[in-house]
Amino acid sequence: MSSTVMVTGANRGLGLEFARQYAADGWRVLATYRNPAVAGELLEELAGQDNVQAYRLDVSDFDAIAALAEELQDETIDVFLSNAGLFGPKPGAESDLRQSFGHIDYGIVREVLNVNALAPLKCAESFVEHIARSEQRKFVALSSIEGSISRAQRDLYAYRTSKAALNMVTRLLSGDLADRGITVVSICPGWVKTRMGGEFAKLELTPAIRDFRGLVARLTLEESGRFIESPGNPLAY
Ligand SMILES: NC(=O)c1ccc[n+]([C@@H]2O[C@H](COP(=O)([O-])OP(=O)(O)OC[C@H]3O[C@@H](n4cnc5c(N)ncnc54)[C@H](OP(=O)(O)O)[C@@H]3O)[C@@H](O)[C@H]2O)c1
Repeated sequence: MSSTVMVTGANRGLGLEFARQYAADGWRVLATYRNPAVAGELLEELAGQDNVQAYRLDVSDFDAIAALAEELQDETIDVFLSNAGLFGPKPGAESDLRQSFGHIDYGIVREVLNVNALAPLKCAESFVEHIARSEQRKFVALSSIEGSISRAQRDLYAYRTSKAALNMVTRLLSGDLADRGITVVSICPGWVKTRMGGEFAKLELTPAIRDFRGLVARLTLEESGRFIESPGNPLAY
């Protein structure tokens, strides 16, 4: 039987490429998107394939996460990729200082924390049974080196704080889900060309996701709780 991956935020960027590559490899893909108006590629190209199903999900709506888990109660999920994420205002490229000291917009900080750290926790709580009954049993959060507290120096309060909080969430989940045999990790994909990564990013989308998928495939339960940069460098929290 083929393996199943679930990907949040699969309508563009890394999420869409995960959906494409897993589908091309013959996996069953459960892909979520929040807005049909910007999900054309997913809905028109991919969701026409037998092994891809698309579901509408705004991960900031926690009742909707629980409802989708209920709708998919008969599914088995080998790999859950918690990918949907927000960067928040960009102080460099767009001179938007709303996550910089002295100019913080707390509504934005709360929204970024909600989507980047709390929504993955809600996803883990809601989909734990689907994952636990699978063969591979992996919950992978798309984190960032920007969430490393030991490397952090200044600025980007919303994004950095949210990814640090996400790393704490995955670390705690690794303990709480160990007896179910579920491997939980935070992985930084590297700096990849997407809308979030921007045009000057170092990595091209296709090879970056190929490497990331290779890393996910090699993960073992002994590595649960780790913070790793694709294709395999351990990161300090
Ligand atoms: N690209 C990089 O260099 C890089 C580096 C480190 C970590 N990451 C992480 O990798 C993940 C994907 O990044 P990306 O580069 O692909 O970003 P992106 O191009 O900005 O795409 C973000 C995706 O998340 C979705 N999303 C945002 N808020 C959502 C919500 N409330 N509900 C559902 N979906 C939501 C977006 O949907 P809409 O289209 O509807 O907005 C979009 O599909 C993020 O968690 C990011 O932090 C990326």
